[in-house]
Amino acid sequence: MLIIDGSDLSKQKILVTAALPYANGPIHLGHLSGAYLPADIYVRYNRLKGNDILFICGSDEHGAPITISADKEGVNPKVIIDRYHQINKEAFEKFGMSFDIYSRTSLPIHHDTGKEFFLEFYKRGLLKQKKTEQFYDLSAQMFLPDRYVEGTCPNCGYEEARSDECEKCGALYEPSELKNPKSKISGSTPILKETTHWYFPLGEFQPRLEKYVEEMNAKYGWKENVLNYCKSWFKAGLQDRAVTRDLDWGVSVPLDDATGKVLYVWFEAVLGYISATKELSQKLNKPDLWKEYWQGGDTKYIAFIGKDNVVFHCIVFPAMLMAWNDGDKSKYILPQNVPANEFLNFEGKKFSKSRQWGVDVDEFLRLFPADSLRYTLAANLPETRDTDFYWKEFQARNNSELADILGNFVNRTFTFVHKHFDGIVPTKADVEKIDADMIKLLADYPFKISAYYESFKLRDGVLETMNLARACNKYFNDSEPWKTIKTEREKCGTTLNICLQAIYTLAELFSPVIPFSSEKIFKMLNKEKINWDNSGEENLPAGHQLNESEILFSKIEDSVIQNQIDKLYANSVFTNTDSEAGQITIEYFNKIELKTAEIIAAEKVERSDKLVKLKLNLGNKTRQVVAGIAKSYSPESLIGKKVVVVANLKPAKLMGLDSEGMILAVEATDGKLNLIDPGTSAANGTRVK
Ligand code: 2FM
Ligand code: ZN
Repeated sequence: MLIIDGSDLSKQKILVTAALPYANGPIHLGHLSGAYLPADIYVRYNRLKGNDILFICGSDEHGAPITISADKEGVNPKVIIDRYHQINKEAFEKFGMSFDIYSRTSLPIHHDTGKEFFLEFYKRGLLKQKKTEQFYDLSAQMFLPDRYVEGTCPNCGYEEARSDECEKCGALYEPSELKNPKSKISGSTPILKETTHWYFPLGEFQPRLEKYVEEMNAKYGWKENVLNYCKSWFKAGLQDRAVTRDLDWGVSVPLDDATGKVLYVWFEAVLGYISATKELSQKLNKPDLWKEYWQGGDTKYIAFIGKDNVVFHCIVFPAMLMAWNDGDKSKYILPQNVPANEFLNFEGKKFSKSRQWGVDVDEFLRLFPADSLRYTLAANLPETRDTDFYWKEFQARNNSELADILGNFVNRTFTFVHKHFDGIVPTKADVEKIDADMIKLLADYPFKISAYYESFKLRDGVLETMNLARACNKYFNDSEPWKTIKTEREKCGTTLNICLQAIYTLAELFSPVIPFSSEKIFKMLNKEKINWDNSGEENLPAGHQLNESEILFSKIEDSVIQNQIDKLYANSVFTNTDSEAGQITIEYFNKIELKTAEIIAAEKVERSDKLVKLKLNLGNKTRQVVAGIAKSYSPESLIGKKVVVVANLKPAKLMGLDSEGMILAVEATDGKLNLIDPGTSAANGTRVK
């Protein structure tokens, strides 16, 4: 039992984890909406309820996403993880994420935990060693991890499916089942080569997993979307899953005959929650603290994730914990709920790094306050379906809700009390119906919002909290204190007393969502937070001295928002068809560097009937371009031709060859390509305008 402000409350131990983001790039708003903001609101709410919360997160620093980024930059993966761990940690801090720890899976404590689980399963004979055929890139001389191979999904026919998992239909399969595989490293068709891996018998756990999901749902009400994902997995039937990979970056497999092999990233990443809690315990000088949460039967464990992580958190991780618990060591708790969100899109399209579509958190917070973003995202969380972030909606929520409703109520009340009551809480005298109704509303609201938060309807909780602010403004208006101050000072004092109590309630109920502004309000009120359940009571005694007020939310001008929209379209491959009917600006066009060049060498690309490798003279430099013109031109006929080239196109690899530009051609009705001829009079490298 915990005593806070005189009230007895049972103190629930709650472990909250938020998906460990890959440290291979900056997090964007979609990540925040999917998992992090909901987790933080839930945690902050529970802390105010007096619960004993531990909030765990950190960087996922292994797996192909990291090595792919490292390969692209030609650096060691360590460079990538160190960079993005720091960037994301700082962005989360600025956004107000209140993690108890933001750890990293590259730490020895995590490697040890991953190995411990693997060895426990291995020693108990749970893992099956199997010889399988895996994709191998002959030119790069390496086995290709999942994300290095792309092909057609054997389940739905999606053409950009990964080697073991389809992003579109969610199917999981063995790499050998993928159709038309292509190596992402060289563009060539990889061969299948024999290798040995260890498999976790996921299929054997299916009956227990189905029962687990059913029981958790019956007791705690899982979200419909999450249940549906689980059901479709069960329906397809769970299979053995390889838990090792041929790769040199990751947690090495702790067996003598496993050199060059690491644990599959998803096997160890989910254990990252445990190792992060161990790290926290060490930091707090309480090395066994983690056990109280992970191995204390009375802990409630909630795992916040985005929808793409459902299978790993509702099926793979629970199965691993069940497997561990079948042994004779201390038992782990399993997730009680996994309130996964759908995705947030950006201005109607998917976030995309390569298409430069979206905005990084770090960049956003350099321009706008964290609370404005938190509120906007919270009011539009993709809890039941995908939602969108629109710049104009962001402006509207900031200006018409945060500033005009909440900010205005706080500001007008403070200004009035400072002007007419010397900044001192006036006495509450006789209450009339309008006042009694307001007092009751305030007392009921913490329980009303609790019901939303407890059932993970965070969006409704946030919108309903803004409704309270609306009701407060109405109370102020209907009570007309600017009139009563002249004729009935006591009555006016009562109104303002109640308005100040309401500000206190709002500061508390809004604090999980907009913690920075809430802190400011508590400072203005010259009062601390108390337990959530009591926040609707009369918490400010008459005679209490208030501090000076400050403006909580500034309005965002139209021009500022338009700048962001223009910047988005200017940087991305998309054009703003909404407002400009597909037109682009001259500035946008000017970004495309079209230059004249001369073909000085040309040869056919082996194993391709379309591609020709060209060497171009661009005046002061030469370039290699791989062009799809082999069916229209023989290599010999190309030498000496003048062409127009897109000179600032991002370099790409085609059939393993670097291509640094694109030459322009027109397709004739018979399908033949005609190169655009700039004529012979311009020097090589002249800008085409
Ligand atoms: O999807 C992702 O970004 C993964 N890195 C999430 C991992 S969550 C957990 F397993 F660590
Ligand atoms: Zn598919």
